[in-house]
Amino acid sequence: MMRAFRCQICGDSYLGAESPDRCPFCGAHRDYIKRASEWIDHGQVELSEQSRRDCERALDLEINNQAFYACAAGKTSDQISEAFFKRLSKQEGEHAEVLSEMMGVDEPEVPSVECSDDDAENMRDAHERESRAIRLYQQIARRAPEPRVREVFLALTDIESEHLIISSIYR
Ligand SMILES: [Fe+2]
Ligand SMILES: [Fe+2]
Repeated sequence: MMRAFRCQICGDSYLGAESPDRCPFCGAHRDYIKRASEWIDHGQVELSEQSRRDCERALDLEINNQAFYACAAGKTSDQISEAFFKRLSKQEGEHAEVLSEMMGVDEPEVPSVECSDDDAENMRDAHERESRAIRLYQQIARRAPEPRVREVFLALTDIESEHLIISSIYR
């Protein structure tokens, strides 16, 4: 039977017989995927000064990584790397959307970011970028007073950890 599911992190819906293993859009762990009827709309969140600054930094990081992965996907001639880079770019774009919505701001324009012609070099760069994201997001989740901010950054920490693993295997 076809069911409707919805991701508690990015809000996108998924139709299928079973809940997917991870959100096909933002990459959130299956624990965050709810039946559509049980999904809670958090929308914009009232943010403390600290959390607003933290979200701004995170948003900047996400759109940079989105652009970086798009660049890497465009340059590779390996089909597997291309598939990874493409999906990673889209996921970081979703993360930027989640953060923008939480902050109540328009999504910023994606910057132009340079990348290498060499896959291995880009995988190393990816590794750096994901490590940086994980460190920042753990800090943010720890100090945020808002439950929704904690929830989002814990989910993002887990997703970026998956990205880190991918970059470790394929570099
Ligand atoms: Fe991300
Ligand atoms: Fe990532």
